[in-house]
Amino acid sequence: MRHADQVTYLERMLHMVRTNTRDDGPGISHTSVEEYYDPVRFKREVGLLFRHYPIVVAFSGQVRKPGDFVVHNDTGQPILVTRGTDGVLRAFLNVCRHRSASVEVKPCGSNKRAFVCPYHGWSYDLTGRLVGITDGAAFGDIDKSKHGLRRLKLVEKYGLIWVVPTALQDGEEASLDIDPYLGALRVDLSGWDMQGWELHSSEPVRPRMNWKLVIDTFLELYHFRYLHPGTVYPLFLDNIATYERMDRHLRMAAAKRTLTELEGQPKEAWRILDHAIVLYQLFPNTVLTYTQDHCGVFTSFPVSPDESVMQFSVLVSPEEKAKKPESYWKANVDLFAVALSEDFAIGESIQRNFPTGANTRQTFGKFEKALGWYHKEVADAVAP
Ligand code: FES
Ligand SMILES: [Fe+2]
Repeated sequence: MRHADQVTYLERMLHMVRTNTRDDGPGISHTSVEEYYDPVRFKREVGLLFRHYPIVVAFSGQVRKPGDFVVHNDTGQPILVTRGTDGVLRAFLNVCRHRSASVEVKPCGSNKRAFVCPYHGWSYDLTGRLVGITDGAAFGDIDKSKHGLRRLKLVEKYGLIWVVPTALQDGEEASLDIDPYLGALRVDLSGWDMQGWELHSSEPVRPRMNWKLVIDTFLELYHFRYLHPGTVYPLFLDNIATYERMDRHLRMAAAKRTLTELEGQPKEAWRILDHAIVLYQLFPNTVLTYTQDHCGVFTSFPVSPDESVMQFSVLVSPEEKAKKPESYWKANVDLFAVALSEDFAIGESIQRNFPTGANTRQTFGKFEKALGWYHKEVADAVAP
């Protein structure tokens, strides 16, 4: 995040404190409750957003060395990401070209030389090429070069790995330039520079909530005072936050209670992460939260219209990790886990209440505008 942007956000939030105002305006917005449970809408979201958009499925820290691999199934497509001996990271459908078994069954690993299908032993090298057919004579003159693992588009940048979960045809380009997709956010992501960061932990949560309702819980601070009085609210000022739409993504900052210490200090020395957290909603299903010493990554995936799986991952730079004991990181993760359980308990009640007929639409107040923007963006993306 550019220093000028950091100062602007901090000034804006200090102004809110001084004048007891909030980041309100331009107006209230709504979204239909049906979009959270309608099976037709759900199918369109999965078919479009989770098949044709770049989705964060892994982190650079998981696949640094040739032979490292990660399996990811949350999009509904079985994805295998691995680094070849040439250093190139590739993504494949984790599906054997013989009779469609999953080729790799472990969630992750290293030092892999080949992927050997557990069913009949067909083997694939790290570039996805079919290199061995057991009892090959039984398959006549089958063309091995046409039976490699199906490639998926992949891009690794800023420490994150995005995959577009639709099989490419032979000869189709597998690389992807993520910068045009990120738009204005690429400056921030390149600035936070997470390329060398490690994945500290990653935990799945499976709330009975629509996958978008999971994202909603991150997009305003209005609820902190009421829902999180014993967990995260003590760290933050009451609803002092800024919200900004950046292309199809969102950028927010939430002020910590120490914000007012900045009064009178030279602006050149202001650092936003000292007194706020910065949060990004990466369209369509990822939230990044930057704090002083780590980045939380929350990815929400659809299971059914009213169920999702969210991966809560923590990325840390090796320097920060070395500075603090494991107990510190564990306490951090635990605090977040409790706050998430507070969010998801209320979220599950919301999901149950949607079809009751009490509301035909959700109402987003002026400082809940990020929710309005988010749902508009999703609606536009899946519009027929
Ligand atoms: S399904 Fe993989 S070798 Fe038969
Ligand atoms: Fe919350």
